[in-house]
Amino acid sequence: MSRPASVLHATTEIAPWIKTGGLADVTAALPEALARQGTDTRTVVPGFPAILDALQESRSIYEAQGLFGTARMRVLQGRLPGRSTAVYVIDAPSMYLRPGTPYAPPQGQDWGDNLLRFAMLGWVSAKLASGEIDGAWRPDVLHVHDWHPALAHAYLADAWPPVKTVLTIHNIDYTGRFRPHDFHRLNLPHWVAAGLGPLEYFGDLCLLKAGMLLAHKVTTVSRTYATEIIAGRHGNGLDAVARSRADGITGIVNGVDYGTWDPRHDPMLPAHYHHDDLAGKAACKTALRARFDLESLPDRPIFVIVSRLNGQKGLDLAADAADSIVESGGQLIVIGSGENHLEWRFQMLRDRHPRHIGVYFGYSDPLAHLAIAGGDMLLMPSRHEPCGLTQLYAKRYGTLPIVQSNGGLADTVDERTGFLFDERYTTLAETARQAMHLFQDRNRWRAMMSAAMLADHGWQRSAIEYQQLYEGLAVHR
Ligand code: ADP
Ligand code: GLC
Repeated sequence: MSRPASVLHATTEIAPWIKTGGLADVTAALPEALARQGTDTRTVVPGFPAILDALQESRSIYEAQGLFGTARMRVLQGRLPGRSTAVYVIDAPSMYLRPGTPYAPPQGQDWGDNLLRFAMLGWVSAKLASGEIDGAWRPDVLHVHDWHPALAHAYLADAWPPVKTVLTIHNIDYTGRFRPHDFHRLNLPHWVAAGLGPLEYFGDLCLLKAGMLLAHKVTTVSRTYATEIIAGRHGNGLDAVARSRADGITGIVNGVDYGTWDPRHDPMLPAHYHHDDLAGKAACKTALRARFDLESLPDRPIFVIVSRLNGQKGLDLAADAADSIVESGGQLIVIGSGENHLEWRFQMLRDRHPRHIGVYFGYSDPLAHLAIAGGDMLLMPSRHEPCGLTQLYAKRYGTLPIVQSNGGLADTVDERTGFLFDERYTTLAETARQAMHLFQDRNRWRAMMSAAMLADHGWQRSAIEYQQLYEGLAVHR
């Protein structure tokens, strides 16, 4: 048997240190799952403050001056606590040592120099992949996550011997589109640079498009989302680019890191439980009600939302359903942050029903875990959802997901483990009413909870699919 391929992952996020969404959960768990399967796996990530603070056994393996306008940059090699796989960290303080998310200052618009900040990530990823930065380790495959490191594909276009690359699209809503005035500062190979080349998108630069054209393999995070991109239903203007690839887009569904997300041992919960003994879930529900000062109605269901608040997530549909949920005897808790108009709507609902609706606007891991454990149903009415992780977490915690039927939601929730609706044919309020009706039938509800809690969404199966993909590419090395 041939040896497993070695793989370098390139990403801007890695949980729990740098996280704005599910991307961070995936890039934290997938390399570890691959390593357990025998794949030699490392990750490259920008040196954001939380990463540099956490980095252990760090040593500098590369230094340069003047790259993409930085006075000085280094590549550090080290480890992040609790992880078996090594990381390379780009220590470029003028680019990455900033407050806020990887993309924007706190409460602000995206940084004006993001093109150069992420060109640096793409360039370093490419030079690590080609063995030019670390002579001691040259991976068989570079695996790029989302648009931020995607210029790596362009930097590798001239590499000899060729370096095999995979691009995973976690959400095609985010394309990395920029005005072209900094194009000349990207240090691209000449043929790529001619007339903006594969980066050109209606006169702008589009990093995701370049990745989609140049990667040896393009994947996304569920089978249904792959078909939705290709068909143009959710292609965000890049569906023709997707269709231009003879090999299409491969869908590999995300997994769950049950080391972090399991009610049997989750350290963020006041009590633990499993499908055979649900007493701990009742304690979590009591704690959740107390945290939001909701009326104590032990027999009534709590609906929870844990989400970014934006149009993709369809949370206007949840706001539309909230009065009806409360009037039917339910309660609602919203943990989320994002668009102001949605925060206002949920705040107004809270003011109208202060003992039945609770809101927290911001990012809080402990509250996310408590809500997913203490709720009875999770609302996830996304208009499109590449994969979605929260519904998978909710299943393991016996909190039945009510989801809109598309993308990864359609692939991971069925009528044995949750509720699906389509806003073209029915409302979320109506679906929630049906779920509340079923909630009264304790035996059937228990059976659904067990089916949801016992479903295996662990990483192993998906990691094997990625491994086969890498090995298919590496055969031709
Ligand atoms: P997306 O990546 O599109 O936001 P996912 O369902 O894949 O959607 O992943 C969302 C991740 O972010 C989950 O880990 C979820 O628990 C977490 N999350 C979302 N909103 C919040 C919040 N306000 N506080 C804490 N965690 C959150
Ligand atoms: C994106 C998607 C989400 C997916 C996550 C991880 O943020 O919106 O559906 O689960 O990436 O792949």
